[in-house]
Amino acid sequence: MGTVTTSAKETKRLGRKIAVDVVKTTKDRAHSAKGSVIFALTGELGSGKTTFVQGFAKGLGIKQRIISPTFIIMRNYRIKLKAQSSKLKTETKYLKYTNFYHVDLYRLEDNFEQEIANLGLKEIWSDPKNVVAIEWAEKIKDMIPKSAHWIKFKNLGGDKRRIV
Ligand SMILES: Nc1ncnc2c1ncn2[C@@H]1O[C@H](COP(=O)(O)OP(=O)(O)OP(=O)(O)O)[C@@H](O)[C@H]1O
Ligand SMILES: [Mg+2]
Repeated sequence: MGTVTTSAKETKRLGRKIAVDVVKTTKDRAHSAKGSVIFALTGELGSGKTTFVQGFAKGLGIKQRIISPTFIIMRNYRIKLKAQSSKLKTETKYLKYTNFYHVDLYRLEDNFEQEIANLGLKEIWSDPKNVVAIEWAEKIKDMIPKSAHWIKFKNLGGDKRRIV
């Protein structure tokens, strides 16, 4: 099931492709979406979640380098699709996504309900203008909206990662 990548570059490429797919389907979702597009990423340390998000952000037209938000839990980027090819631009003229939130819950404390409230995560993921990627999403599994896309990462040794 899923796919096995054999390099970080390949995982980034997969992330990028999935982001472009999300953006392309924007037009269809435009009148039905109730909240953000959420990607819930799970898997052990070094399994490739951040690497995937780096490619994913590229697919959203984000030029900034994506660094792991581990110490501050969350980073917010402006989605800039102007940077995309003219073909993609045409396809995304109904674009409504404006912000990308990269969240990493690795350091989430035990009293996480309060911390999640402080972060404003529920407000963030209920806004249809946002795209949200959450590393260590399993930590708050029961809180995550049903609409989320779950992606599981597994380190198979060396440069191999299984992504489902
Ligand atoms: N096929 C691959 N896919 C992704 N990363 C790979 C692959 N092969 C090697 N790597 C390396 O594995 C590491 C993956 O680290 P990354 O920070 O993406 O993991 P993570 O799942 O976000 O970990 P953490 O839980 O600490 O946030 C990187 O150093 C990357 O270069
Ligand atoms: Mg990470």
